[in-house]
Amino acid sequence: MTVLVTGGAGYIGSHTVVELQSAGYEVVVADDLSNAKADVIDRIETITGKRPVFYKIDCADKAALRGVFENHPIDAVIHFAGFKAVGESVQKPLQYYRNNLDSTMTLMEVMEEFDCKKFVFSSSATVYGPNNPYPYKEEMPAIQSSSPYGWTKVMIERILTDYVTAHPDCCAILLRYFNPIGSHESGLLGDDPNGIPNNLMPYIGRVAAGKLEKLTIFGDDYPTPDGTCQRDYLHVVDLAVGHLKALEYAREHEGVEAVNLGTGNGVSVMELVHAFEKANNITLSYVVGPRRDGDLPAFWADASKAQILLGWKATHSVEDMCRSAWDFARNSK
Ligand code: WQD
Repeated sequence: MTVLVTGGAGYIGSHTVVELQSAGYEVVVADDLSNAKADVIDRIETITGKRPVFYKIDCADKAALRGVFENHPIDAVIHFAGFKAVGESVQKPLQYYRNNLDSTMTLMEVMEEFDCKKFVFSSSATVYGPNNPYPYKEEMPAIQSSSPYGWTKVMIERILTDYVTAHPDCCAILLRYFNPIGSHESGLLGDDPNGIPNNLMPYIGRVAAGKLEKLTIFGDDYPTPDGTCQRDYLHVVDLAVGHLKALEYAREHEGVEAVNLGTGNGVSVMELVHAFEKANNITLSYVVGPRRDGDLPAFWADASKAQILLGWKATHSVEDMCRSAWDFARNSK
């Protein structure tokens, strides 16, 4: 079976490609490398012994996408490609709507031309918005977000849902990620954003590696046990395996399913900082600064549907996540 992975050179995408290849799938990667490096493909080959087919293309380029489908019998698509920086999306909403929606709808049109009916979508817990109680459950309203980035996820979930309603022999799985961190055990793949990281763990890794002076903890006056925000951190390899399980489900089913991929546990910023220090025997330099706009005090997943529907459960500990994150960060250039 051949799977097209858009954004497959990215953080989550590359880890997913490794799991797909290890499970015997033929993998084709389409990535414009706007937030990934070409050598990730070499690293995937080093890990699995098999080089995925790679196309450096923009998924909004219909002719280029058609070329991929003409050259390969694509049976299913896992769609990661898209802009994903929350803060940047507030500054550049039009670019986010154009890129994320255009690439998705172009991809769906080409899939329809080639009769490809299986779609696994990289969605986000951000679709639950600020008003749902946590732990978040899939049947809660997922109709609001706090940033244009998050709104693109809400809109794409809607587009996929309406499309599958009109084409009931198709299947779309909407995977709602919580906070993926950590790296593949080889230390060859990891969260390596261009520029200054927005997210907590890659920032911690660069402080630990001496590339950034200190971490600023965005607020310790939240209504949480230690005053810092709580999130549901999960190991990126667990997340990647979740995509494999979703693909296996999609192969045998029709319709649309939203599925949370999280651990079901909330961990605070301070807890994660201390866990990283303990797991790696490192003292991190940090200060407490003002809150970051848009941050919610706490949320985590109700992860029961993933276990029931997909037979998936997160298995890695916070210590595993911290140790693997450091194994990657300290080897990064
Ligand atoms: C986690 C906590 C920060 C950096 C975002 C997106 C979500 C998904 C994952 C794309 C928060 C605190 C962070 C720092 C800090 N992205 N923090 N200092 O905001 O939960 O989720 O990334 O799919 O859609 O919303 O993750 O890692 O940015 O922040 O104190 O330098 O760490 O305030 O409490 P977040 P994050």
